[in-house]
Amino acid sequence: MKRALKWAAIVIVGLVGIVVLIALGGYIASERRIDKTYAIADEALTLPTDAAGLAEGQRLVTIRGCGDCHTPDLGGQVLLDDPMLGTIPTANLTRGQGSATAGYTVADWERAIRHGVGPDGHSLLFMPSYEYAGLSNEQVAQMIAYLQTVPAVDRLPAEPVLKPLLRALFLTGQLPLLPAEKVDQDMAHVASVPAEASAEYGGYLVTTCTGCHQPNLAGGPVPGSAPGEPLSANLTPAGNLAHWTLEEFKNTLRNGVTPEGKALDPAVMPWPLAGQMTDVELEALWLYLQSLPPATSGS
Ligand code: HEC
Ligand code: HEC
Repeated sequence: MKRALKWAAIVIVGLVGIVVLIALGGYIASERRIDKTYAIADEALTLPTDAAGLAEGQRLVTIRGCGDCHTPDLGGQVLLDDPMLGTIPTANLTRGQGSATAGYTVADWERAIRHGVGPDGHSLLFMPSYEYAGLSNEQVAQMIAYLQTVPAVDRLPAEPVLKPLLRALFLTGQLPLLPAEKVDQDMAHVASVPAEASAEYGGYLVTTCTGCHQPNLAGGPVPGSAPGEPLSANLTPAGNLAHWTLEEFKNTLRNGVTPEGKALDPAVMPWPLAGQMTDVELEALWLYLQSLPPATSGS
């Protein structure tokens, strides 16, 4: 009996030891990637100073979903707070107390938005810069010009906490923790993109939708959502959109009700943001979605 107990104790201590070693290995492996620095040259951008340029910057910041994570007043919030995963705050983008961007140069803004790299050269955490990497110089300049004028909000950010499960999800490629790794850092930026009702322009805009609707737009779990929260819908011709007209698509995003009569909850599907897209932008998105191969979630 004593012997059996002794062996059981040895096995338990051994197992605990293995778990500790795995956790330590995961910690070291993830810290090594978090510590990596990127040297991104300053991009020479000319910011608009006219009212029209600033208003367009505000609209672009809206339709690109910055306020969805950084809150509508851009003062930031706790994006994820989970006892198993940890804490991920979004930054205060205003010049108020707790600001992350008060000392930013134009090049710092560009590095954060299109490269996912902070002023200290490290990758930002969880900021989806891979969705913004392809923004034209013209549009990113309009957005920065507007961001520099946002009214100050005093809000101190929480400290990020990365728990072992979050690190494990990151190391197994299931969580986009380090955007700088996912961005093609050598990508050439275009000066401007013509706003036209074409599938090509839709492809430029759709990066705002892929974060939740999955890269192939077939829908699925929204990253960071809890189990039981609605899955994002299939936007390829394998989903409901196959039976919609362009007008119905526009109405859905402008009024938040689908042709099937489903009211979309703006807290899960940010249709009020998409609804600020112009007719040309919505038609371009529509043409792009129609051009996709029908796909189902997970394929
Ligand atoms: C999916 C959520 C999400 C969206 C959408 C998003 N961000 Fe972020 N952003 C974050 C998080 C999280 C951080 C904090 C990163 C960190 O602490 O390292 C961040 C950080 C930043 C920073 C860096 C601040 C610093 O610490 O130096 C800037 C600048 C920024 N975001 C701008 C934007 C802009 C502009 C947009 C829209 C084009 C945007 N973000 C959209 C989540 C988001
Ligand atoms: C923050 C996550 C998120 C973003 C960003 C997002 N969606 Fe959604 N979307 C959802 C979710 C979740 C649903 C499903 C809502 C439900 O079932 O109640 C949905 C549903 C939809 C629907 C309804 C489809 C149907 O079959 O009923 C359309 C259309 C849609 N989204 C289009 C878009 C477009 C276009 C974009 C980009 C401009 C976009 N979404 C961006 C999360 C998102």
